[in-house]
Amino acid sequence: MASYDAASRTSMAMLLSVLASCLVFAYAGNFYRDFDITWGDGRAKILNNGDRLTLSLDKASGSGFQSKNQYLFGKMDMQLKLVPGNSAGTVTTYYLSSQGPTHDEIDFEFLGNLSGQPYILHTNVFSQGKGNREQQFYLWFDPTADFHTYSILWNPQRIIFSVDGIPIRVFKNLNSRGVAFPNKQPMRIYSSLWNADDWATQGGRVKTDWAGAPFTASYRNFNANACIWSPGKSSCSSLSPSSSSSSSSPSSAWLMETLDASSQRKLRWVQKNYMIYNYCTDRKRFPQGLPLECTATATS
Ligand SMILES: *[C@@H]1O[C@H](CO)[C@@H](O)[C@H](O)[C@H]1NC(C)=O
Repeated sequence: MASYDAASRTSMAMLLSVLASCLVFAYAGNFYRDFDITWGDGRAKILNNGDRLTLSLDKASGSGFQSKNQYLFGKMDMQLKLVPGNSAGTVTTYYLSSQGPTHDEIDFEFLGNLSGQPYILHTNVFSQGKGNREQQFYLWFDPTADFHTYSILWNPQRIIFSVDGIPIRVFKNLNSRGVAFPNKQPMRIYSSLWNADDWATQGGRVKTDWAGAPFTASYRNFNANACIWSPGKSSCSSLSPSSSSSSSSPSSAWLMETLDASSQRKLRWVQKNYMIYNYCTDRKRFPQGLPLECTATATS
């Protein structure tokens, strides 16, 4: 299995270089420090000394924010409480993205619905500009009643989407099998609340009811274990000498995190009971054959 060895050596070398060159940090966030409100003309607000952020949407505009930092790998947690009541037509996004035509992107999108009808959690992964990797889920709770934690773990081997610590989706690094994996372009965190009633709810049949505006989604407890990327460098910024031996510290465990048996059971539980769309089983959409990552088995 020469290719297996080569692949695992490559990813280990890469991991070591990330650990050696990266500012691996961990902290509880503050919205003033970590994010910029980028659009919405006052509709996005940072509250409680930076502990909370709200986005709102009315007929004239939605709103959004983005991280000040760019990251190359990380484990990012955010708690969201989604638009309550009749949220049909609204979409709340929370995602990582790089810039440019061959961009990478890791997406959570929450598609609103009529009161009492379930949101759809829509996910996607773009690598080198190629997406079309949608998986959609219902949630096992009402995401508008309380805050819940939505996490993206992005390390050199895999991307894991989790909800309240329960993995719902994994995208493995199958670079050695010819599937591009996001591992070179730094990404920012973005979030927005906007009107997408041409497609979001029941395929676009249910429109936004502006009588219920403004619609509001709330954010708190951003937490990141991540590598901050500094412009002009192809890797993360340098460590101060005192913190350079970070490979043994618990805060960098995410860099090698994988799914243990219990997490794999949870993932299967979600996929069996809550997954409502999986591009990997949509043969009609890919008459030429399913995408390679759907059929290739991972080496690790
Ligand atoms: C909205 O509710 C309908 C009916 O229960 C359901 O089919 C649909 O998947 C739900 N979510 C969205 C975003 O349309």
